[in-house]
Amino acid sequence: MKKIIIAIDGPAASGKSSTAKLVAATLGYLHIDTGAMYRAMALKILRSKVDPNDTVKISALATRTSVRLALREGKIRVVLDGEEVSGEIRLPEVTNIVSPISTVSDVRKLMVHEQRAMGREGGIVLEGRDIGSVVFPNAELKIFMVADARERAVRRRKELGTKGVEISVEELEKEILERDRIDSGRSVSPLLKADDAIELDTTNLSIEEQVEFIVEKARKIIEQ
Ligand code: CDP
Repeated sequence: MKKIIIAIDGPAASGKSSTAKLVAATLGYLHIDTGAMYRAMALKILRSKVDPNDTVKISALATRTSVRLALREGKIRVVLDGEEVSGEIRLPEVTNIVSPISTVSDVRKLMVHEQRAMGREGGIVLEGRDIGSVVFPNAELKIFMVADARERAVRRRKELGTKGVEISVEELEKEILERDRIDSGRSVSPLLKADDAIELDTTNLSIEEQVEFIVEKARKIIEQ
């Protein structure tokens, strides 16, 4: 059976993670959340008290940092310099500085190198901002997931609520739009829809419908 690469890109909180996770589980593929890797780097910057806009210091720190995704008890864990940080990387303090840090080209080089190594064999679903455009431009299936900003904020509020973090929808919408602005405007690997990506607007879709849409497309390619 052919093992393909599925690239899911899109703006902040568009539902990539939950969808990619279920698509991977349905197909028996590995799921790689590349945003989690950038978040781990952001956590390191936060802990090191380096200015998130100090490109030179961030580049230097990146060369001394290890960010890995490890499978433990059936779950993907984010490991920063040997320490598991899967929970901490979702904190608002990390979210607030992750986009400026993701503009630093040395940080991106490090992450892209890791991601390519993990995806080499296929049988993988990667989600992020630059998967179909930069990391795996030859991916067999590319999805660009979008949703209305207010709907994305409502979803993120629900998700954070389950973790005990209370933030208003208005504040989240502002944060999401600001991250989109930085992610789309940066000079290195900006967030963009690859020419051959299929756009999927999830504003009015259920998670099951999103997953089914992608799995159906993937199966067609696998069986070809
Ligand atoms: O889950 P959410 O949509 O909030 O974001 P994420 O996927 O966890 O990504 C966090 C941040 O990492 C994004 O806002 C980007 O700045 C950066 N990122 C990136 O630059 N390239 C990627 N492939 C993935 C994430």
